[in-house]
Amino acid sequence: MSLTPNIGLAQDERIVGDLCYMSECTEKRIALVTGAGRGIGKSIAQLLASKGHHVICISRSEGSCGAVSEAINSDGGTAESLALDVSDKTAVKEACETLLEKHNNIDILVNNAGITRDGLLFRMSDDDWDAVIDTNLSSCFSFIKHLARPMTRKRWGRIINMSSVIGLTGNAGQANYAAAKAGMIGMTKSLAKEFAARNVTVNAVAPGFIATDMTAELDEKHQDAIVGMIPMKRMGQSVDIAGTTAFLASEQASYITGQVFTVDGGMVM
Ligand SMILES: NC(=O)c1ccc[n+]([C@@H]2O[C@H](COP(=O)([O-])OP(=O)(O)OC[C@H]3O[C@@H](n4cnc5c(N)ncnc54)[C@H](OP(=O)(O)O)[C@@H]3O)[C@@H](O)[C@H]2O)c1
Repeated sequence: MSLTPNIGLAQDERIVGDLCYMSECTEKRIALVTGAGRGIGKSIAQLLASKGHHVICISRSEGSCGAVSEAINSDGGTAESLALDVSDKTAVKEACETLLEKHNNIDILVNNAGITRDGLLFRMSDDDWDAVIDTNLSSCFSFIKHLARPMTRKRWGRIINMSSVIGLTGNAGQANYAAAKAGMIGMTKSLAKEFAARNVTVNAVAPGFIATDMTAELDEKHQDAIVGMIPMKRMGQSVDIAGTTAFLASEQASYITGQVFTVDGGMVM
């Protein structure tokens, strides 16, 4: 008899807490997005900024990440840009140290920068292998290594790694890319286990076929063939990936870690 009101009270308290937690009352966070100059990364940077976060936009060329951060600032958000080769371990270390001095902590890290250097194995050069592994996979290791410790100390962090459905299925002519994207998934799950108790979540997004400069390189016949394999019969848009990423970066995703979210119009199920 006496337990019922107490249980009820505890539930009510939890509901009050959950209502706040489920609402959009998010704190302003510091987010870092690599490959933010174009395509998917640009959409992610813009969406995170529209949610009130300060966004550090990183890309190879100042022209692209600079234009994105300028657009965010002129639209009323706050952003800064940094031109950096994410495959350069020393440059990433120095950049992370400088950013931590300035901001104390990066709360949201989106490892999105990526390239393709396709070719069947016998024609794939060592350079093509190394460039894709270094840019797509090793860069994630570098950023996480330098930025995760303050997140764990703060007991709040979100790491989102941009994998690909190719990391799940493989693809002829993309051994380097598939290895990097599958590697990101293994790394995501391992680090999710390492950081879970510190309230730092690590998840991966695996886009399908998204309309960006990367896929525009494919000829029309190839594009049509891929679209033919997508149950929704269309390419995805960068905003589709940005939406999932922003959700994973939010308070609402606080109990999700070590997961891979395919966003692909039903291509891989
Ligand atoms: N598009 C798709 O269908 C698709 C599907 C699955 C997964 N993905 C993944 O999603 C991510 C974004 O793809 P996207 O289609 O948006 O590509 P994108 O349009 O080609 O843009 C790539 C971005 O990454 C930056 N970048 C590339 N190499 C870099 C380096 N070494 N250092 C710093 N920045 C670098 C580029 O910088 P600059 O602007 O300076 O050149 C650019 O901003 C990639 O990881 C990709 O593998 C894409």
